[in-house]
Amino acid sequence: MATTEPTMPKLFDMAVTVNGTRYEQAVEPRTLLSDFLRHDLGLTGTHVGCEHGVCGACTVLLDGESVRSCLIFAIQAHGHRITTVEGLGTIDNLHPIQEAFRQAHGVQCGFCTPGILTTVVPFLEQNPDPSEQEIREAISGNLCRCTGYQHIVDAVKLAAERART
Ligand code: FES
Ligand code: FES
Repeated sequence: MATTEPTMPKLFDMAVTVNGTRYEQAVEPRTLLSDFLRHDLGLTGTHVGCEHGVCGACTVLLDGESVRSCLIFAIQAHGHRITTVEGLGTIDNLHPIQEAFRQAHGVQCGFCTPGILTTVVPFLEQNPDPSEQEIREAISGNLCRCTGYQHIVDAVKLAAERART
């Protein structure tokens, strides 16, 4: 009987800038961007919930636009700029939107928060004075299992107000 020898997966060289740092790394073509960020780079702030594009927990910025990192292969980020929640602000120097979430109690368990922040950052850049309905639509692709939407909406409103004044 013929035996099938296991074959080593082919690796592809990629170069990507994540949170301002350039990484050159070989990846399997099947590696998801979410797994690359979490497992290869140790950036576990990007959360993985559904792994098929529904929950929004894995949202990151690709060249400043929100994308779901579970729906993109790492190799597709080759030559691009990624920002994860770790790249927005630090504990001592929160991003203004993070600060608004803190003050408006927009965080409960926090599992959805990285994805919501990386959704809201480009949203407020494009729409600095959103209505409540527009805020709700903007975050409608981010599922919060703590059902804390009212405080999240309040936090986005607060961040928008502060950015305008
Ligand atoms: S983990 Fe990517 S959308 Fe849910
Ligand atoms: S704060 Fe818990 S999932 Fe949103």
